Amino acid sequence: MKINDKAITAEQQKHAERYDKMSYSRCGKSGVLLPQISLGLWHNFGGNDDLKKSEDILKTAFDNGIVHFDLANNYGPPYGSAERNFGEIFKKQFVKHRDELFIASKAGYDMWPGPYGNWGSRKYLISSLDQSLERMGLDYVDLFYHHRPDPNTPLEETMMALSHIVNQGKALYVGISNYDAETTAQASQILRELKVPFIIHQARYSIFDRWVENGLTDVLTKENKGLIAFSPLAQGMLTDKYLKGIPTDSRAARDLTYLQKETVLKAQQRIVRLADLSKARGQSLAQMAISWLLAKEVVTSVLVGASSSEQLLDSVQAIHNCDFTAEELDIIKNI
Ligand SMILES: NC(=O)c1ccc[n+]([C@@H]2O[C@H](COP(=O)([O-])OP(=O)(O)OC[C@H]3O[C@@H](n4cnc5c(N)ncnc54)[C@H](OP(=O)(O)O)[C@@H]3O)[C@@H](O)[C@H]2O)c1
Repeated sequence: MKINDKAITAEQQKHAERYDKMSYSRCGKSGVLLPQISLGLWHNFGGNDDLKKSEDILKTAFDNGIVHFDLANNYGPPYGSAERNFGEIFKKQFVKHRDELFIASKAGYDMWPGPYGNWGSRKYLISSLDQSLERMGLDYVDLFYHHRPDPNTPLEETMMALSHIVNQGKALYVGISNYDAETTAQASQILRELKVPFIIHQARYSIFDRWVENGLTDVLTKENKGLIAFSPLAQGMLTDKYLKGIPTDSRAARDLTYLQKETVLKAQQRIVRLADLSKARGQSLAQMAISWLLAKEVVTSVLVGASSSEQLLDSVQAIHNCDFTAEELDIIKNI
């Protein structure tokens, strides 16, 4: 983007240039374009994290055209703190850019005690989004997800709640996450009948975890829905950081239940082989893992996490090298 105005300020120029640094893909057949790389706030934005660092990561994201930020009611820890911190940073940095941002939140996992703070009831979803909006200081989110399927609540009730939320003007679009292929098709049918703008499925997808390929990607293609891939780096395993063991500043070393040291050590030989391949392609392993996803037609955006701006700057370069030879794809498939 060029601005032919001699009086343009450095700030305006920087602002215009950020959109040249990113590519945007259509989300299914909707009107929405999403950056090929989006930023998730599951880790590194909570009450125990350094707020200044979180702010730096968000600013780096925006300066590189990453305009989609993904949150959930329970991101932290403690629950709610990522939304609260995001709200503070938003107030300071992004208020004037609100219409340039695509902000998502979710509900579906454990959030508050008692029978109404979990799963997929109308009661839970509607009050949870109200709480999320208050924490973030927003009037609406661009996208609201049901975070996981609820086997004990009728799907109609959950989908009706999403419909209600859109009709209230509290979310512009809706999505679902972690739904299997069959339930996704059913949800899509209900939301179509209700004329709800259901645009996207958020699913775990990486070189190490390809469950979506067993039916879900077919459903999403058929239903013209977007797919945003979460944990694309398998929580950091698909990067160069674990090549020689487990560094102390890594997610695995923090002993979170989500990424165990044993899981990393078990995968290490495969990680080393993939790192060799990425090197031959002239990429970091993180970049190759993201490029591999971006090369797939069904993937709208790759939803990365980052514990530093440097990591995000590394990951963002993935968009420039998404061509793979058949031989490279074969190695990855059989890794
Ligand atoms: N819908 C759901 O159920 C669900 C579930 C999980 C996540 N999500 C969403 O997906 C987002 C991403 O998930 P994730 O954090 O697991 O994703 P990820 O991208 O697979 O892992 C991110 C971690 O990898 C490491 N890393 C990132 N970039 C790197 C680089 N270039 N070089 C070296 N290391 C790098 C960092 O870990 P270190 O801390 O070790 O540096 C970072 O925190 C979440 O924030 C959330 O928004 C959704």
